[in-house]
Amino acid sequence: MVITIGWFPRVAIHTRNRSMNSTHITQNRTASALTASPARSLVGGLRVPGDKSISHRALILGGLTVGETTVSGLLEGEDVLATAGAMRAYGAEVERDSDGVWHIHGCGVSGLGEPAGVLDLGNSGTGVRLLMGVAVGHAFTSFFTGDESLRSRPMDRICHPLEAMGATFLYRTGDRLPLAVTGPKSLRPITYELPVPSAQVKSAVLLAGLHAPGVTSVIETAATRDHSERMLRGFGADVTVEDGGDRRVISLAGHQELRPTTIHVPGDPSSAAFPVVAAACLPGSSVRIDGVGANPMRTGLIETLREMGAKITLLNEREEGGEPVADLQIEGSELRGIEVPPERAPTMIDEYPVLAVAAACASGRTVMRGLAELRVKESDRLSAVATGLADNGVPVEELEDGLIVTGCEGKPQGGGTVAARLDHRIAMAFLVLGMISRNGVTIDDVSPIETSFPGFSDLMTNLGAEFQTQ
Ligand code: S3P
Repeated sequence: MVITIGWFPRVAIHTRNRSMNSTHITQNRTASALTASPARSLVGGLRVPGDKSISHRALILGGLTVGETTVSGLLEGEDVLATAGAMRAYGAEVERDSDGVWHIHGCGVSGLGEPAGVLDLGNSGTGVRLLMGVAVGHAFTSFFTGDESLRSRPMDRICHPLEAMGATFLYRTGDRLPLAVTGPKSLRPITYELPVPSAQVKSAVLLAGLHAPGVTSVIETAATRDHSERMLRGFGADVTVEDGGDRRVISLAGHQELRPTTIHVPGDPSSAAFPVVAAACLPGSSVRIDGVGANPMRTGLIETLREMGAKITLLNEREEGGEPVADLQIEGSELRGIEVPPERAPTMIDEYPVLAVAAACASGRTVMRGLAELRVKESDRLSAVATGLADNGVPVEELEDGLIVTGCEGKPQGGGTVAARLDHRIAMAFLVLGMISRNGVTIDDVSPIETSFPGFSDLMTNLGAEFQTQ
């Protein structure tokens, strides 16, 4: 038997080998410190792991079909594996074959079964929030929890629209996990205008809408990543999008059957961001990253780095499985600070920590505003970035909703130790700072990197980075 639910952090990978019965590997994370030494330049080619957002959605939608959905390139990081575990607890068959292809046999829309225990989504905000959208379509109770970081993040943004659809929540003070949610006998369709630009909230409401009679609509005044809309269509759902420029209305008719499909997950642009920035900041670097997602709702970092003077070329632009994909070529260059348009934030929301690192080696000031959402990510990223930069000799001002970084016109001093705060992107951003600094940077705990970018230090080492375990 494989334990996939519980109150403790764990990861289970089910492996299907056609000549063997299913086996599994269970890992437990232990904290470990790592120092990134100054790197001369980065040279070479790589692929980054699969897109985290797309991977979660593939497992969830696959679990809502009858028949087999196959997924290649799935991100095998802790966050996504936690979603796979939750879908199994709901009764879907989710297995990986020996070629790394995942096979999902789902239960149909509204066909999931009541999990026998608590669903522990670890560090994953996307996993828990999207699954809540699915949970409310079933007239039983689901219990959710997560790690210390996830238990501190607000869930009211999800609970409010789902309560309006008829679900009942029981949660800790401040709408925090752990929580229990019971779906009504019949869900009500709603029209919901997002109070914050959040693809997680949009997706949770659309997923719930699959289980409601009539049409559920989400209105966004700032467009967010549209992977759910694209993938729902790929599964045969009727999704309409009215784009009125500053107002997007996404509508979905409920009670539709989803058709199983084949998905290829592109490389995650949010993971590519770390080698992109490291190479862009180190003169003499030349790095190529193949097969990266190039959805326009995710390419804000590339656009911003180019405005800062980075040499980044998109090659072989193509569409794979309903998503734009490209190969990236990055050459090292000198960067200059800019004012980043706040309205660009949703297209690069997870990339600000590493953008702030690029700003640290630029000439002049980089101003980043409109980022209140960064305070409720895996950590308070505005505070984590400001503290980490200041402790490594980079002048920085922390604003209520942003950061102003005064660049060092070349290599920042470094030499400090940065607290990762259970946040994978803080850990990786400051390892990049170490690579481009004069004295290196130590991260107190790099284990959270496993949530989104397994193999990070090996891939970076192959390009010329140097790390020392502490
Ligand atoms: C995600 C949406 C974003 C992003 C997160 C992944 C998604 O969160 O930060 O890493 O897959 O929908 P918000 O919806 O909170 O902006």
